[in-house]
Amino acid sequence: MSGFSVEWLALRESYDLRARNPIVLDAVAAAFGSRDALRIVDLACGAGSTVRALGPHLPARQHWDLVDNDPRLLAVACSQTFNDDVTLNAVPLDLSSNFAAALNGAKDLITISALLDLVSEAWLDRFTRHVVAHGLCVYAALTYDGRIALSPADPLDAAITSAVNAHQRTDKGFGPALGPAAAAAAISRFKALGYSIVHGQSDWTIGTADEEIQHELLDGWVSAASEVKSLPRPDIDNWLARRRSAVEARVSTMRVGHVDFFATPSVMR
Ligand SMILES: C[S@@+](CC[C@H](N)C(=O)[O-])C[C@H]1O[C@@H](n2cnc3c(N)ncnc32)[C@H](O)[C@@H]1O
Repeated sequence: MSGFSVEWLALRESYDLRARNPIVLDAVAAAFGSRDALRIVDLACGAGSTVRALGPHLPARQHWDLVDNDPRLLAVACSQTFNDDVTLNAVPLDLSSNFAAALNGAKDLITISALLDLVSEAWLDRFTRHVVAHGLCVYAALTYDGRIALSPADPLDAAITSAVNAHQRTDKGFGPALGPAAAAAAISRFKALGYSIVHGQSDWTIGTADEEIQHELLDGWVSAASEVKSLPRPDIDNWLARRRSAVEARVSTMRVGHVDFFATPSVMR
């Protein structure tokens, strides 16, 4: 499964849904609870999981602009059917160069899920300044924060995690990525610009029976660690073999750290 394939996004969706921080979700719901209708922009929407996860917490009438640069994902996202009160509009756009085009016009809420760890410091700076200048609210979910906890523990886990996190900081299309530093950087920027923040962890908790996602994560981590070249290839291969055996023996569990936050102007419009 490739990084943003329909299959991978479908596999991770139930873990994302379970992980989303309930306090942050409640803060989003409370902010808009008295409204009749909302105009929402979902940046890097993928297959539309944020509509499914957040929609039930919002007022019934919702108009979503779903933004992504992958036409296949956009088509999947926009093929969802809801009742007549929820409308979806596909916006094909490369956010690395042109996020502002997606935020034109009256918007109540910007959502962004599993993207901020891919962006650069310069992009984040432009984004936060634009959001604050226009008084927008942002719900940012599932930003990877660098924590990987594996059980049973293996002597190479820390070195692999460190190589994976080094790979997370390489260019993902937006310049050198913030990777594990992204959520903290976004929160501190919004605070410095006078915004209020509600935040909390949204870790994936993956149990012994969740073999498919464990194998996918192991393959992804091995590929990232190999590209970084900080570890001898045989060490990586042996680690993978040990971890796969633990998955197959149904004794392996994983916790992958993420952060959610909701950023609002101190006085909401
Ligand atoms: C990890 S997926 C997250 C998708 C979705 N938000 C979710 O939570 O399931 C990252 C998404 O970012 C999109 N993406 C990556 N680079 C992009 C860019 N430069 N412009 C627009 N979308 C981009 C990918 O196509 C993919 O849908």
